[in-house]
Amino acid sequence: MDLHGEDLTDAVVASFDGSLEPRTKEVMSALVRHLHAFAREVHLTEDEYFLAIDFLTRTGQISNDKRQEFVLLADTLGLSMLTVGLGNPATEGATESTVFGPFFVEGSPEVELGGDIANGAPGHPCLVSGRVLNTKGEPIKDALVETWEADEDGFYDVQKSELGGPQNRAHLTTDAEGNYAFWAVKPVAYPIPDDGPVGEMLRAGGRGPMRPAHIHFMVTAPGYHRLITHVFEQGDPYLGNDAVFGVKDSLVAEFSEHPAGSTAPYGKTPDVPYYSVTYDLVLAEESR
Ligand code: BEZ
Ligand code: FE
Repeated sequence: MDLHGEDLTDAVVASFDGSLEPRTKEVMSALVRHLHAFAREVHLTEDEYFLAIDFLTRTGQISNDKRQEFVLLADTLGLSMLTVGLGNPATEGATESTVFGPFFVEGSPEVELGGDIANGAPGHPCLVSGRVLNTKGEPIKDALVETWEADEDGFYDVQKSELGGPQNRAHLTTDAEGNYAFWAVKPVAYPIPDDGPVGEMLRAGGRGPMRPAHIHFMVTAPGYHRLITHVFEQGDPYLGNDAVFGVKDSLVAEFSEHPAGSTAPYGKTPDVPYYSVTYDLVLAEESR
C-alpha cells in the first residue's frame, strides 16, 4: 500500500469502520478529516509537528490534581465556550451559561443564608444576593447554590498552598422565596495561570491572560437544568477581552459601593466600606 494525500486520510478514516460504538466512528472520522485538513492548510512542517508534540507533552506534565492545563488550553482556544453553547442552548428567560473553569472543588463548606464564605480571604467585603427562579418568575425553594471566586490578589484558595481550609467557596440552599445570599469579597480581574505551556501560547499569540472580575455559580434543583455560570462586574476593563471568551452581556451586573457603618441586609454593619451585588439566577425547566 502506498498511501498519499486524500488516500491516506481516507484510509485512516476507514480504519475506524469497526468501532465498537457508532459515535466513536463518527467522532474519530471527523477528527481525522479535520486534523489532516488543518495540517494541509498550514503546510505543517516536521519541526512544527515536534514542537506541538512537546507542547502537548508539557501540558500533560504540568497538570496535577490542582492544575489542569488541558482545561486551560481548551478554555483559551474557545473550545470550552463552544461546548458550553452546544450543550446549553439558550432558553428564553433563563440565565445564560458560561465556562466552568478549573477551580471548582467538590465538598465545599455549607453556609447559612447571609453567611460568610470569605473565611479570612483578603478583599473588600461584598454581599452577593438574589433569588433562584424558574422562567415563569416563580421562586425555586431548596435549590443548591454552589459558589467560588478568587480573592483580592486574584488567587483561588486551591492556588494558595499555605491555607488550612477553604476560602471564597461554599454552598447554600435557597429559602421558600428562592433567596440566596452570602458575604464574599468583591471579585477582581485576575490572570489565568500563565506560567506553563498555555501562557507561552498566549504570549506567542500576542494575547493576555486576564479574566474580568467574576463570581462563579453552579445551581441545581430537581426538575431543572443545572446552571453553570458567572456574574461579572460591570465596568471591568477586561469584559471585552476575556482570555477564555466567557463573557455574556446578560451576566454583567453592577456592584454598588456602601460606606463603612451602613447596615446591610442579613444583620451586618461592616466597619469598612463594602460592596453589594444582586443577581437573580433563572433555571430552565428540564422538559424543555
Ligand atoms: C476561572 O474563571 O476560574 C477560569 C476559567 C477558565 C480558565 C481559568 C480560570
Ligand atoms: Fe474564575
